[in-house]
Amino acid sequence: MLRRLHPEQPASFAFTPDNLAWAQAQITKYPEGRQASAIIPLLWRAQEQEGWLTRPAIEYVADMLGLAHIRALEVATFYFMFQLQPVGSVAHLQICGTLSCMICGAEDLIAVCREKIAPKAHQLSADGKFSWEEVECLGACANAPMAQIGKDYYEDLTAEKLAWLIDEMAAGRVPTPGPQNGRYAAEPLGGPTSLTAHVDGRDPLNASARRAVDIGDTLKRIDGTEVPLLAPWGRQSGGDAVVAPPSPAPANARPTPARARKPAAPAQQADKSVAPAAVAEAAPTRLSAPRDGVADDLKKITGIGPKLEALLNEMGFWHFDQIAAWTQAEIAWVDARLKFKGRIDRDDWIGQAKARAGKA
Ligand code: FES
Repeated sequence: MLRRLHPEQPASFAFTPDNLAWAQAQITKYPEGRQASAIIPLLWRAQEQEGWLTRPAIEYVADMLGLAHIRALEVATFYFMFQLQPVGSVAHLQICGTLSCMICGAEDLIAVCREKIAPKAHQLSADGKFSWEEVECLGACANAPMAQIGKDYYEDLTAEKLAWLIDEMAAGRVPTPGPQNGRYAAEPLGGPTSLTAHVDGRDPLNASARRAVDIGDTLKRIDGTEVPLLAPWGRQSGGDAVVAPPSPAPANARPTPARARKPAAPAQQADKSVAPAAVAEAAPTRLSAPRDGVADDLKKITGIGPKLEALLNEMGFWHFDQIAAWTQAEIAWVDARLKFKGRIDRDDWIGQAKARAGKA
């Protein structure tokens, strides 16, 4: 299918403060020089915020990651999970039209969408609440025909059941996802014939449906308020955000190649008590060359990639024992010279270096 940007676009995009903090924390997941890998979660978050993925949002995310706009456009137009046109305010229905679902009645489901939502895929319903499209196999073939509505699967559908689901959603209710014919999961229609021991007393909902009901986000879009822990992989709860949001560019601005960009200014630390800049800097002892001409492989420290290793070598650090000996003031000195600050503490370079240097 040809996937183009919608002809009508908003003038601008910016993450909400909550979503910006979340996005900045996501970027810290990736190794030095690989921050562009955060593009899919960031585009997804932008889509969750707006409902669909606008051109300004795509370019905003590209700017945030130091990418040429075309790189982000390539990703956004390739993956069907990204909606390039406005979708229904209540729900966008994705009807599986691949083999198993087609054999089991997908065309009947599509007929319901045409009748109750809009004659063509990606058109909004008259009240703006719904939209639909046909998609490829969603991997729930044993429960064909099925549809993804919002974030969850509704399986074992009939035309009548889908029409009912749409009516329920239009009325502000969120029907329980999962099989809609009484099946627990993907067992035989007549009931399980093996592994039957666990059937008595079990939750009537399978784990996926239970989780969907418990967190209640089937149709709800993520808005940033549900992330108390923004960076569980780090020691801080998202306080080590490191990449500044892009400043708005003129509409006719040409994208700057990522390599030509200056490093983004570090964002404000959320928790000043742990900000490296709060510690007075002191330069560590440095070497002009590795001892005996043989440097340690600093890349063995988690968080140090080839670029960071080259930078450390340039600064005069070649050995694990040098890093292991850094004081807080010396960490602050090195940290101030790294593009992505806070990672020495976050990845525990000192502990790792001590272990490598045989000092732990
Ligand atoms: S064919 Fe529909 S989920 Fe696989």
